[in-house]
Amino acid sequence: MEPCCLRLAVLASGRGSNFLAILEAIQQGRLNAQIKVLISDKSDALALQKAEEAGIPHIFIDPRLFPDRQSYESEIVKELKSRDIDLVVLAGYMRLVGKVLLQSYPHQILNIHPALLPSFTGLHAQRQAVDYGVKFSGCTVHFVDDGMDTGPIIDQVVVPVLPDDTEDDLAERILEQEHKLYARVLQWIAEGRVYIEGRKVYIAK
Ligand code: GRF
Repeated sequence: MEPCCLRLAVLASGRGSNFLAILEAIQQGRLNAQIKVLISDKSDALALQKAEEAGIPHIFIDPRLFPDRQSYESEIVKELKSRDIDLVVLAGYMRLVGKVLLQSYPHQILNIHPALLPSFTGLHAQRQAVDYGVKFSGCTVHFVDDGMDTGPIIDQVVVPVLPDDTEDDLAERILEQEHKLYARVLQWIAEGRVYIEGRKVYIAK
């Protein structure tokens, strides 16, 4: 691996399948990056276990030990800075990002959302899509800003919603695409091809 490649930190609260998909893309040479650390706000997150198994440094930072979001995020930033992180990758991180993280990593925090934003923001995006009766949903990778799932969109993949889909059916179909999309977008960033003008994100050829 080139010593110069993109230094990633993954923030995850749950099962960690996107973390593993990114790691696999790196191992298969599709993504020129390194995951320097995985940080979780949940002690029992499966993502921590997967990082352990994969030999990736991992830390549980307990938000309950901090009086407010700012001090909690300052602790995260301390860990990120000590590892010279270039890009913070949210992968099922179930917290709103506050100003301490945003100001420390401007336009350097990414999130993946299991819907075609700006539709179906927040929790249970797949259930929202099934209940609404849309024919297509999908997934979105976007820069993180101070809203919930509102930052500039980098790329999206469309996924059909089938008539008898349950929330779980749709979630599974979307997840398959999430895993490909995240690695692809990260590689564009590694190649220095992603630039942002206002709300619009462009990918240089
Ligand atoms: C994914 O569906 C992602 O889009 C959403 O949270 C879920 C995380 O899944 N933000 P995993 O922990 O990566 O398996």
